[in-house]
Amino acid sequence: MTRRTDQLKLGAFLANSGHHVAAWRHPRAQADASLDFDYFKQVAQTAERGRFDALFVADVVALWGHHLDALSRTARGEHFEPLTLMAALAAVTSRIGLIATATTSYNEPYHIARKFASLDYLSKGRAAWNLVTSVVSDEAWNFGREAHIDHAERYRRAEEFHDVVKGLWDSWEDDAFLRDKDSGQYFDPAKLHVLNHQGEYFSVRGPLNVARPPQGHPVLVQAGASDAGKALAARVAEVIFAMAETIPAAQAFYNDVKQRATALGRDPDGIKILPGITPFIGRTREEARELFEEFQSLVDPVLGLRLLADTLGEDIDLSAHDLDGPLPETPVGQRGSRRDKVLELARNEGLTIRQLYLRLAGGNPVIGTAEDIADTFDAWFQARACDGFNVFFPYLPGGIEVFVDEVVPLLQERGLLRREYEGATLRENLGLVRPANRFAGSAA
Ligand SMILES: Cc1cc2nc3c(=O)[nH]c(=O)nc-3n(C[C@H](O)[C@H](O)[C@H](O)COP(=O)(O)O)c2cc1C
Repeated sequence: MTRRTDQLKLGAFLANSGHHVAAWRHPRAQADASLDFDYFKQVAQTAERGRFDALFVADVVALWGHHLDALSRTARGEHFEPLTLMAALAAVTSRIGLIATATTSYNEPYHIARKFASLDYLSKGRAAWNLVTSVVSDEAWNFGREAHIDHAERYRRAEEFHDVVKGLWDSWEDDAFLRDKDSGQYFDPAKLHVLNHQGEYFSVRGPLNVARPPQGHPVLVQAGASDAGKALAARVAEVIFAMAETIPAAQAFYNDVKQRATALGRDPDGIKILPGITPFIGRTREEARELFEEFQSLVDPVLGLRLLADTLGEDIDLSAHDLDGPLPETPVGQRGSRRDKVLELARNEGLTIRQLYLRLAGGNPVIGTAEDIADTFDAWFQARACDGFNVFFPYLPGGIEVFVDEVVPLLQERGLLRREYEGATLRENLGLVRPANRFAGSAA
């Protein structure tokens, strides 16, 4: 098989203390990182030193998880609002992209179009929007609703939301602002376009009060896994966050989404698919395995059982069962495909309750030396299971420093990763086309 000539695209997931659910307890992690800007600055600058494409920050607009016994054992009870954090990071970095999450379920398109256009200016063309439909039902209670919007409706709303935001970003043609001191004309009204959107969920006249963003529009990121999610991603996403534990599973997702996009007339290379991966790096394989086990040993059983219940069904209570015994015969709950996969895993491998929740806590780990990590990245990339990775550092800030010092040079030696940024904008570094304004040339 000939080697790919393109290069890996890398995202760095900014997590409080690290991505592992028990990270904050580990001696190598900073426990009070969640609202410490100096911590985020250090991680961001290290990612930029390692020539990552982008930083990524996730979001939930609620205190995530009302089971306080479990939540109170994690570093997830406090976090920055993503756009605010990214605006600050824009000022202390110069090349790396800034992917902020904002939900389409509990927001208004005008706000989102305006904020991301602003971030694109503040960062000189490095903004990206991770467009999500809220998965966490607690969010409904913060926005005047008694119940969460159901899955199908969330996606219908997301699609219309997206169309409005993108329409607003085209309010101004690229050369609309003349600022001509002699004539006294600041902008050309002929190059301003009013959206006049009337739809099922939104009524938005426009235009936007920010000029067309430097990238044409910020890069669009999506992470849908369901049929509706993949359909939206295939239509609108330029970067897709995926979750897959094996090369065949990742290939299936990759081919599915790229084929859907091709069927819609899109260039499949205009979509970069990045599965999440958690590197545990040691000087030897034994040392890496020990490091992984150290993190796993810090998962409190209360938290572990909650992770399991969140997957198998809210009402399941396994606390009366022996953690080192098997799952009870027929656990209730209906959470669809993920639940079935976990039950199958427990059955096929004969896992105990503790072993099962530790599997969930461990995420998608790759455990080994820097060379092993580089081999894994290479193998997935060459097999077209991905276009790069969204890297979940188990602990921070040390986890990204080890990665940048030890894995990045190996990837560069193999020609898999840039030594210098290709361009000034995220779009240029990802190799994505700058979109034309849909209204350009038409009557204002
Ligand atoms: C890497 C990654 C990051 C995600 N970040 C968020 C997030 O910050 N906020 C959120 O509500 N959902 C987030 N999601 C959830 C996805 O948007 C999506 O809802 C989920 O993958 C389930 O797919 P579905 O919506 O098609 O059912 C993330 C998913 C992945 C894989």
